[in-house]
Amino acid sequence: MRKKPLPTVVLTHPIHPEVIRDELAPHALVVIARSREALHRALPKADGLITLLTDQVTDDWLKKAPKLKVIGNDAVGVNNIDLAACRLRGIRVVNTPEVLTHATAELALALLLAAARRIPEGEALCRSGRFRGWAPDLLLGLELRGRHAVLVGKGRIGQETGRLFRAIGLTTEWITRGDSESTIHRKLGRAQVLSMHVPLTPETHHWLNSKRLSRLPAEAIVINTSRGKVIDESALIRALQRKKIFAAGLDVFEHEPRIPASLRKIPNGVLLPHLGSATRETRRAMAQLVVSGVLGILNGKRPPNEVPFRVIRRKK
Ligand code: DGY
Repeated sequence: MRKKPLPTVVLTHPIHPEVIRDELAPHALVVIARSREALHRALPKADGLITLLTDQVTDDWLKKAPKLKVIGNDAVGVNNIDLAACRLRGIRVVNTPEVLTHATAELALALLLAAARRIPEGEALCRSGRFRGWAPDLLLGLELRGRHAVLVGKGRIGQETGRLFRAIGLTTEWITRGDSESTIHRKLGRAQVLSMHVPLTPETHHWLNSKRLSRLPAEAIVINTSRGKVIDESALIRALQRKKIFAAGLDVFEHEPRIPASLRKIPNGVLLPHLGSATRETRRAMAQLVVSGVLGILNGKRPPNEVPFRVIRRKK
């Protein structure tokens, strides 16, 4: 009996070479498209496509891939994929929920500690050779124990971050989708820490705008490990420059990877290059999950990490 030909899976990046070798290559013809030209050459043959959150998967890509059945995004966020176009073309999408929850929550906690205790400023002072010894007023920060954190979004990462914040003595509450504007304003008024945990959708674009920022107490710290565009970055920069808030810890930026010079100059900003899920354990688990989801769909299954198309929101 003739064997069924293997499906072709195209990757825009060699996400995790061992996982590709051991878990994808035995079941698919693997094509790693390292350039835009290579991708355009590979798309017509693709049954599956594995992408990064930095790939903008538009209908133009989909048009070039008439055989495509599934896209696996090596991220939990799927704002880089035109889901409506995928639905119209019958292309299913899988992502990487759960496996990166704890790593991202740990990073939110790390940003909070670094921002509250002015760790980047202290580190820069040591490296500059200008540290002249202990002083009673050197780089005083804020103690976090007993402060109140408001987390925007009560999904997996929002809940796990709340758990870690409570472990160091903060109290927590969440702002959730059903909250009215007056409830949101009341909660913002007591947010000594405000941490963002919502996916980027038309509804959450610039969720934290200048009006909402102005509700925060004077010593507030803003943390963002979700997507840069959920904050109006210019408004946040103004609030930091005018010392309306104490600090911000940012892992993501509005026009990533571009970080405005004005933000880079701000001493009370802790800036990281989108490291939320960047642990060895998590990146392996993400690659395994995305590969198993793509192969699952190519083999006629319904993998648990399939993105339901109800996540498509109306455009504003
Ligand atoms: C995601 O998976 O969406 C994260 O931003 C990756 O770090």
